[in-house]
Amino acid sequence: MGDLLLRVKDLYTHFYTFEGTVKALDGISLELKRAETLGLVGETGCGKSVTALSILGLIPCPPGKVEAAEIWFDGVDLLKLDKEEMRAIRGKKIAMIFQEPATALNPVFPVGEQTAEIIRIHKQVSKREGMQKAVEMFHLVGIPDPDRVSKKYPHELSGGMNQRVMIAAKLSSNPALLVADEPTTALDVTVQAQILQLMKGLVQRFRTAVIFITHDLGVVAEICDRVAVMYAGVIVESSKTRVLFENPRHPYTRSLLQAIPKLVERIDRLPVISGTVPSLINPPSGCRFHPRCSLADSPCKVEKPSPTSVEAEHWVSCFRYDQGD
Ligand SMILES: Nc1ncnc2c1ncn2[C@@H]1O[C@H](COP(=O)(O)OP(=O)(O)O)[C@@H](O)[C@H]1O
Ligand SMILES: [Mg+2]
Repeated sequence: MGDLLLRVKDLYTHFYTFEGTVKALDGISLELKRAETLGLVGETGCGKSVTALSILGLIPCPPGKVEAAEIWFDGVDLLKLDKEEMRAIRGKKIAMIFQEPATALNPVFPVGEQTAEIIRIHKQVSKREGMQKAVEMFHLVGIPDPDRVSKKYPHELSGGMNQRVMIAAKLSSNPALLVADEPTTALDVTVQAQILQLMKGLVQRFRTAVIFITHDLGVVAEICDRVAVMYAGVIVESSKTRVLFENPRHPYTRSLLQAIPKLVERIDRLPVISGTVPSLINPPSGCRFHPRCSLADSPCKVEKPSPTSVEAEHWVSCFRYDQGD
């Protein structure tokens, strides 16, 4: 397993609020190899961001509480690290990019200066060298006229351009893992495609592993080697990306795939998944998807299904996955 970079086992994250305990994650397990891109996909509120933030040690406690059997990253047990050690890993070996690049950037400094500062934290270089490297990185992420752009402030740049700046800044430390939480969701479709292509090229070139969080299966198909489908705080199915599209087994995955609009279909005939994502304060018993599932039977209501291997590298957490073909 020399290629393994991250292993998460039985991750439970709860939030203690006035309304009650939000059981946001209910036993998440996942693995990621070096240079692999894993898509984490599911509807809003299913726990994708909380999964990422839990791994990164960024859940505010209180109100949050993170418990796991294991969060192992590149030979280190992250659960044993103190805040300082965790911060060091986050800055250098694990990088994050988010949906709104403009909010992650500091509005009062030019983007080149900010990127140079980030570079100077990791590499012991002079101010001038930091700036040179920042401009080099801007060039690498396809920013036109990088010298000129480096002197601009975030509000003077488009969303797509700011996201390129973010990617340049974050990849400058050559992290082993990049966590990208909906990085293209706020962008126009054409810009989104460009940024996806850019990320794909860069992670191949630098051999960066990526956890790519999205609610969009189209994006997953574009960029991910493997995919984990989340529903209400649980990973319900995981496999190689192509396998998931060709042979989805969980009823939730199947409905997600059916809900992707096809260009030829009339919009009013789009199937929808009936019902809504349940409250995570009082989640359904047994399989959390059972109230919305047309195949649900008595065991689904009382027992939690555990991941079953249906073929090589393909797991599904469902008692009825072999029904309903
Ligand atoms: N700080 C918090 N306090 C209380 N509940 C939270 C907090 N952060 C997230 N949650 C809850 O955890 C669940 C998962 O949220 P999230 O991971 O943000 O979903 P996603 O990223 O898939 O849209 C949601 O029910 C959300 O309300
Ligand atoms: Mg989110």
